[in-house]
Amino acid sequence: MALNILYKTILETIIENIDAGIHVVNSEGKTIFYNSVMGELEGLDIEEVMGKSITEIFPSLDENSSTLLTVLRTRKPIYNKNQSYLNIHGKQINTINSTIPFRITPEKYGAVEIAKDITQVKELHDKVHILQEALASKDSQKENIKGHTFKSIIGEDDNFLNIISLAKKAAKSSSTVLIFGETGTGKELFAQSIHYESDRRNKPFIAQNCAAIPESLLEGILFGTVKGSYTGAVNRPGLFEQAHGGTLLLDEINSMGLQLQAKLLRVLQEGYIRRVGGLNDIPCDVRIIATTNEDPENSVASGALRKDLYYRLNVIYLKIPPLRERKTDIPLLAEYFIKKFNTVLKKDVWSISNEVKNAFMNYDWPGNVRELENSIESAMNMVIKDHILKPHHFANMKSLFNNKKGSSDYKMLIHENKKLDEILSDIERELIINALKSCSNNITKSAERLGIKRQTLQHKLKKYNIRIES
Ligand SMILES: Nc1ncnc2c1ncn2[C@@H]1O[C@H](COP(=O)(O)OP(=O)(O)OP(=O)(O)O)[C@@H](O)[C@H]1O
Ligand SMILES: [Mg+2]
Repeated sequence: MALNILYKTILETIIENIDAGIHVVNSEGKTIFYNSVMGELEGLDIEEVMGKSITEIFPSLDENSSTLLTVLRTRKPIYNKNQSYLNIHGKQINTINSTIPFRITPEKYGAVEIAKDITQVKELHDKVHILQEALASKDSQKENIKGHTFKSIIGEDDNFLNIISLAKKAAKSSSTVLIFGETGTGKELFAQSIHYESDRRNKPFIAQNCAAIPESLLEGILFGTVKGSYTGAVNRPGLFEQAHGGTLLLDEINSMGLQLQAKLLRVLQEGYIRRVGGLNDIPCDVRIIATTNEDPENSVASGALRKDLYYRLNVIYLKIPPLRERKTDIPLLAEYFIKKFNTVLKKDVWSISNEVKNAFMNYDWPGNVRELENSIESAMNMVIKDHILKPHHFANMKSLFNNKKGSSDYKMLIHENKKLDEILSDIERELIINALKSCSNNITKSAERLGIKRQTLQHKLKKYNIRIES
């Protein structure tokens, strides 16, 4: 197949199978390409559209309201524009469109429109919004505080105690706080504690994740919208207005788009917001706590976080260490979670066994305190009569006992009352699995590494029921 025919076939296959609508017009505004996803979105057949001009297909559109015609005229791309319309079945469709000019000859330009259907995301967002509104109004009515306070933060490591005391100082002010920590280190716990121990405790605490939501939606969520600002937009306050007097937690700030970061910076500096499409400046008194799971200086260096916003957020900086850097807190946290789940699960567990404690201390805890909490909850579900959590209760957490440092500890196996030949078999099995792993499951190489014959290794694989996934 000639190369250009091959490219054409590849392009056609991609265009027909990607999850986006594509509409291309020539310099006269006539459709020269239209894929089936676009057809589904707009409720039109490809044949109805091909060769026709935009105004013929959509009589309600004109030179200014059609993005394709606008781009043909201005020759400037329009990115991520929200569009809402009713399709022929009367269902409201929400899309995010990018429209980009391309050159056909030095004088002639065409335009491509790429549309992404965000109807489901939008519906979900509307539901969350309604729930948040209900929660916020409930929050401001109630006198009793239900969120976490510093009493819920467990840890005695010196560095960790310093961070708690800095966070307690933060609770006495309204300054912006930036919290950096890996997943599960307790960033939200700190944010709630700061809010519920501050003067703002009787006002709303609202958390919003900045990742996974398209920038144009997030803007409306944060700052609110005004009816008519775009088709389908309604009058709705954003989280800044809802959190008035309270605290807004912006989670994963490093995932927020750069344009929105610039808007956020302006709001923080000026102290008022303007709804999307609105004309009025609305004063807002909101304390911002932002979190990130990436070192903010790296995010600034890579361009993911605006430097000016970083300086503005970084008034009080809390860097929460991962659990592996404060291992002395592990037994304390384990005890705390055992008590918690005794109540929740109606159990009577007293502690963890020494073997489990050794494994806990040797493990790296990539999911940090959340992973420790989940592992204890899961183990306590396994307990029937025991009062001590033992290794077999942690059967779900294979990595805990497969840890290089922890699992080969044969003294631990003796504690479990295993017989010598069982212990030797366990060790042999583990060595074989490790050899296979490091030789990418190649049997000949693994046998060489173990210093045994290939047939012997195959015999042992059968004996230990080790299956090799190809
Ligand atoms: N020091 C601690 N003492 C008691 N519980 C803790 C501590 N740190 C974290 N936890 C608990 O661990 C779980 C995870 O904490 P949290 O949600 O605050 O983490 P996070 O840093 O926000 O994680 P992510 O980045 O994944 O959102 C929660 O149940 C929290 O209560
Ligand atoms: Mg969190």
